[in-house]
Amino acid sequence: MTSTYTEIVRHPLATKEGWASFTAQAATQAPPRLLPVADFERLDGLEREVYNAARQDYHSTLLLVATPDIKKIITTGSKLLINNRGKQLGRRGLLVSGASGTGKSTSITQLGKKFQIETERRTPGVRDRIPVVYIVCPADATPKMLATEMAIFLGLPVAERDSPQSVAHSVAAVMRRVGTGLVLVDEIHRLYLSGKRGRDASDQLKYFFDTISATFVYAGLDLAETGMFDGVRGRQIAGRFIPVTTGPFTHRGAEAQRDWAKLVATMEQALRLHRHKPGSLIELAPYLHARTGGMIGSLDQLIHDAANDAIADGTERITKNHLDEVILDLAAINQYDPDPGPGRARHRRGDGR
Ligand SMILES: Nc1ncnc2c1ncn2[C@@H]1O[C@H](COP(=O)(O)OP(=O)(O)OP(=O)(O)O)[C@@H](O)[C@H]1O
Ligand SMILES: [Mg+2]
Repeated sequence: MTSTYTEIVRHPLATKEGWASFTAQAATQAPPRLLPVADFERLDGLEREVYNAARQDYHSTLLLVATPDIKKIITTGSKLLINNRGKQLGRRGLLVSGASGTGKSTSITQLGKKFQIETERRTPGVRDRIPVVYIVCPADATPKMLATEMAIFLGLPVAERDSPQSVAHSVAAVMRRVGTGLVLVDEIHRLYLSGKRGRDASDQLKYFFDTISATFVYAGLDLAETGMFDGVRGRQIAGRFIPVTTGPFTHRGAEAQRDWAKLVATMEQALRLHRHKPGSLIELAPYLHARTGGMIGSLDQLIHDAANDAIADGTERITKNHLDEVILDLAAINQYDPDPGPGRARHRRGDGR
């Protein structure tokens, strides 16, 4: 049997079923209860295993933090959604641009989740409604591949012989019928790196923008540098989309240091450890910044891996040793200078915003 395009492993959110289960998840999962010390010490082998696994799972799920970037994206996006409502002409989109791991996908999907929940709350009981469509741009996409991504999200069948136009028409017709109000297109930079194909796919996206009266949100890597605004198409996007950038946290100046410490504190407060001294991670905030380069995803991994190791080895508190032992992503490793001289640290950290 030959595998078809639709059998490719999909992003978990890139189908209406996956998206629906994401939007149905409670905003904050109830944290597992910490047992009183005496009870904790009385647990037998199996009970302890189950109890520890629940805490480790909790540490590994995403704990959403209201960072300045996500707040900016949600506020700007929500305003656009209100202003665009019911408009066919003169709608504006949102363009989220930034380095890898700075929270673009997290922010736009949270915007989508908020919009979907509000839509369902405002007009309950409407059946066959798909308020939000989320697609990830395939690498080297043709117009048909792009339209197919949307069709797959919506659950529409696409046959090999269907023309790109007919797929696009049915996608647009269905989106109008199911009342799609927000279209999220992730990894959009992939379109602009692939010459003529990219230009054709970009025209396809423009077709959707023009025919579906929804708010469009594009997110991708450093878009100004990937040619997103070049040429006729680029100018068209520049004129239609409000740009928002995401970036790493810096550690220069009192305000930036306060923001970073607040982020560390939020993650620290959520830890489920028996002997962790509150505030001990805040004291290590400068070290945590040096290790992660201010990347929230790397910080999340660093703290939660260390916490899970502290559960596994029974210490129940995060020590500097635990943190030193965690292996982070390559980008974090490459930027880390364990022993920055007074002048060198500033030059090495290329995190200026
Ligand atoms: N607001 C947030 N609260 C908590 N964690 C976050 C937040 N934003 C991002 N993260 C963490 O950072 C990681 C990377 O975020 P995300 O995948 O959204 O980045 P991205 O900019 O889309 O990266 P890429 O360009 O590589 O796709 C997430 O897996 C998550 O752990
Ligand atoms: Mg992403």
